[in-house]
Amino acid sequence: MLVIEDLQVELANKIILKHIDLEIKQGETHALFGPNGSGKTSLLMAIMGYPQYKVLSGKIMFKGEDITYMPINERAQLGIGMSYQRPPTINGLKTRQMIHLCGKGKVDEEKLAGRINFSNFLDRDINAGFSGGEIKRSELLQLMAQDPDLMLFDEPESGVDMENMALVGKTIAAMLQRNGFHEEGKSILQTKHERKKMGLIITHTGYIFDYVTADKGQVLFDGMLSSVENPREILRCIGQTGYEECVRCMTEND
Ligand SMILES: Nc1ncnc2c1ncn2[C@@H]1O[C@H](COP(=O)(O)OP(=O)(O)OP(=O)(O)O)[C@@H](O)[C@H]1O
Ligand SMILES: [Mg+2]
Repeated sequence: MLVIEDLQVELANKIILKHIDLEIKQGETHALFGPNGSGKTSLLMAIMGYPQYKVLSGKIMFKGEDITYMPINERAQLGIGMSYQRPPTINGLKTRQMIHLCGKGKVDEEKLAGRINFSNFLDRDINAGFSGGEIKRSELLQLMAQDPDLMLFDEPESGVDMENMALVGKTIAAMLQRNGFHEEGKSILQTKHERKKMGLIITHTGYIFDYVTADKGQVLFDGMLSSVENPREILRCIGQTGYEECVRCMTEND
């Protein structure tokens, strides 16, 4: 499981995350909300281990290990992976090669790409000229090949069209073992107890909840997280009263 205790993170000489406490148990998926610029992406980058996100205090534990200062490649090997909000273009690296690397040579690139309608992109350079929605599917494909135990999704549905939304949503549900079916379509109806995968999904719209249920919602505001049981409800509240009022109400009811 992932446990974050009193984490404070600085980026470009500015404290972005002030006091973060978060616990994602095995088999759980959490939704992460917050206004633009509140630090959602920064939190994911800090969990993944990007050195520009400097930890000033607190700690991050994963699978019982203190990973606070662990290099990013070791975190990936330990089972943390991320689908990025705005990944870079990598000229000269074909999507097919990247999938091969992510899957450590053990995945069938064609088969995997076919699952998210992405076969025609395998021989293009990573993200080179990809549309917004195509980038999201490319990110998903890489994460699917990596198949980590903790999956960090940074706005996986933003810019994805209606038809592909269902595909993206169902794919994420399958990746997080939440759809009741495994690859061959055989029902396995995994219970919370049997699930191994953990997820943290940033979303502004909540469209993803039509396909993926979240166990908890987290709202990032003013560098701190407030946690709620029902992510859909909190979205409604944010829509009606705004983030600040909503967080005030949540903390008062604690
Ligand atoms: N290199 C940088 N120098 C200065 N400020 C930065 C830098 N990178 C990020 N920031 C700032 O850090 C803050 C947090 O950014 P972050 O991307 O984590 O926000 P976010 O919650 O993911 O927002 P969004 O919903 O728009 O994706 C923002 O105000 C951003 O401008
Ligand atoms: Mg962001």
